[in-house]
Amino acid sequence: MLTIGVLASGRGSNFQSIIDNIESGYLNARIAVLITDNPKAYAIERAKNNNIETLIISPKNFPDKDAYYSHIAEELKGRGVELVILAGFMRVVGKTLIQAFPNKIMNIHPALLPSFPGLHGQKQAVDNGVKISGCTVHFVDEGVDTGPIIIQAAVPVYNDDTEDSLSERILRQEHRIFPLAIKLFSEGKITVKGKKVIIKSKKEDAVIINPPLL
Ligand code: GAR
Repeated sequence: MLTIGVLASGRGSNFQSIIDNIESGYLNARIAVLITDNPKAYAIERAKNNNIETLIISPKNFPDKDAYYSHIAEELKGRGVELVILAGFMRVVGKTLIQAFPNKIMNIHPALLPSFPGLHGQKQAVDNGVKISGCTVHFVDEGVDTGPIIIQAAVPVYNDDTEDSLSERILRQEHRIFPLAIKLFSEGKITVKGKKVIIKSKKEDAVIINPPLL
């Protein structure tokens, strides 16, 4: 069984979808800890409701970014975490955490990377008039949303879309592909070669990985 640590800053709907997929038996995993930088994050409620230990760790209590992320790495390692999930963690992760978990930190981003990295990926898509956007699960490296891409799902962008309406459509796909990426990882089906992620999957998995445009 895969031991996961989750980092989240806000609402935590992706955190919830992972909890639900464990509960249903889709994922053979356990969440050892939720770590948040935000004492008001709704993710904390979700952890409480599911008896998941929560640590609120503020960067304000550390001299610098390296010390902050070393501490988080220690907390995760101390609980036997094998895979770190960034589920709406709204900070650029520091190198001390990345080096402690090389290609073992996954992030979900609400755009088809490498387009629209950083904040407000959905607004960037609407403002740039693209016709297709989506979401990306990728491993975290030391850049901003630049790590090896694991899975993407595409959605259409309509003329009358707003940031909110597009975010909602993308979020539905986030809740599908993040658990799928974790499942593939837990089954040893993911290999990273430089910037590329190779997924060992059956033909029928392609439908899940590339869902029809909704
Ligand atoms: C999600 O849309 C996620 O893709 C995005 O924040 C939202 C978190 O929602 N993440 C980023 O923009 C990271 N740069 P959630 O808290 O309900 O999972």
